[in-house]
Amino acid sequence: MFQGQNEPVKFVQVAATVFAAALLFVSCDNSTQALSRATALHPEGRDVFEKNNCIRCHENGNGGYGKRMVDNVNLKSLDYIKTRIRVGRIMGAAEMPAFSKTTISDKELEEVAGFVRALAGWER
Ligand code: HEC
Repeated sequence: MFQGQNEPVKFVQVAATVFAAALLFVSCDNSTQALSRATALHPEGRDVFEKNNCIRCHENGNGGYGKRMVDNVNLKSLDYIKTRIRVGRIMGAAEMPAFSKTTISDKELEEVAGFVRALAGWER
């Protein structure tokens, strides 16, 4: 192998690594910003989100076990969000539990749905 032939390969590898790191940085940054914006808009909703362990599965809107919320197009509609929380859904091995009125009151449901919608980027 000529030494010169390796250079473009190395360059591509380095460029790919830098690009991946930049993407990671941008996506983390996005969700951190989304979280603080959503918290500022809906502080009570953030409390409901933490109190009911939403954060355990959805992390800070980043996904994890539950679905990613930041930039999620499904979450434009408050009614959709509220239904998902009340009804829940099983997707293969993953389960979104249903939360009844005894766990999350209607008032808390409004608050947390607003928080989730803001987290998803539909209220700024
Ligand atoms: C035990 C883990 C778990 C907990 C706790 C949990 N979720 Fe989920 N959630 C999931 C999973 C898994 C899905 C994906 C199911 C699906 O595809 O609809 C999901 C989906 C959702 C969706 C629909 C996302 C979409 O794109 O359609 C919303 C909204 C949601 N969760 C909100 C909440 C809120 C608010 C809480 C707390 C009150 C919560 N979740 C608690 C696991 C969880």
